[in-house]
Amino acid sequence: MDRDFLSIDDVTPRELHHLLESAAKIKQSPADYAIRLAGMAVALIFEKPSTRTRVSFEVGVASLGGHPLALSSSELQLGRGETIEDTGRVLSRYCQAIVLRTFGQERLEALAAGASVPVINSLSDYEHPCQILADLLTVIERKGDPAGRTLAYLGDGNNVAHSLLLGGAMLGMHLRVATPTGFEPIPQVVERAEEIATATGGSIAVGNNPEAAARGADVLYTDVWASMGQEREHAERVLVFTPYRIDADKLALAAGDAIVLHCLPAHRGEEITDEVIDGPASAVWDQAENRLHTQKALLLWLLGRE
Ligand code: CP
Ligand code: NVA
Repeated sequence: MDRDFLSIDDVTPRELHHLLESAAKIKQSPADYAIRLAGMAVALIFEKPSTRTRVSFEVGVASLGGHPLALSSSELQLGRGETIEDTGRVLSRYCQAIVLRTFGQERLEALAAGASVPVINSLSDYEHPCQILADLLTVIERKGDPAGRTLAYLGDGNNVAHSLLLGGAMLGMHLRVATPTGFEPIPQVVERAEEIATATGGSIAVGNNPEAAARGADVLYTDVWASMGQEREHAERVLVFTPYRIDADKLALAAGDAIVLHCLPAHRGEEITDEVIDGPASAVWDQAENRLHTQKALLLWLLGRE
């Protein structure tokens, strides 16, 4: 049975630690891994736009000696009604892994049901697990062991927030999520994160007060207020999300050595100010780079090529 990575919760805490250690090694000595995927092809299907994910996966597969194929769904027969299951069946005859960025999580599950090779979620409306691998590696680089550290996420209870809740809990972190009323993360994800945190010594707090969440935090994190597919809600969202912006005042509430993360793309002046994203606490460029190293580790692990 091939392993899929549709949710960060598809790996155990022990496997997550392993992936992050492996990513750190790959980052240190990339040349040691230059032919690990020789003769292998990885399909990268995008049903939404992407800069970091597309480029880091393409460059990552190539730097492992494999062949990446970046495919937009509109130019595949998918765009003309071929099912996602059949697409998975066929691509599995040519490719050794399939990466999909899409809307509903059920499309990833359908692709995985048809495919006989590992399927990776490179963002759905529900989760963004590849992002969280990079985020956690960045926390480790800047802060050491994440266990017992506090991460405050301010903004929309979206895909990134969901994966952060689950992944942070797996490493024993204290997660605080502050969103406007009505934009909280979905209750099943919060309950699952609480269950994980109980076992790892972490904790989960979801509320609506951004200042309370930021106070004393080791990591401040935010994401866009309107995700891909929600563009039409942008103007009305700005009105309710403005108190959740990460600015100098929020940063001043956090720990003195706090770092700031953002999955990017940033809407500067909305969820984060120029002063903060360009300031000394910002780790966002290292965070973006770490997409490359963590995804290489993920592919090697899923394909048994470590
Ligand atoms: N953070 C992230 O997934 O960026 P892209 O949308 O550019 O891939
Ligand atoms: N929540 C954002 C993340 C982008 C990387 C979105 O889904 O558009």
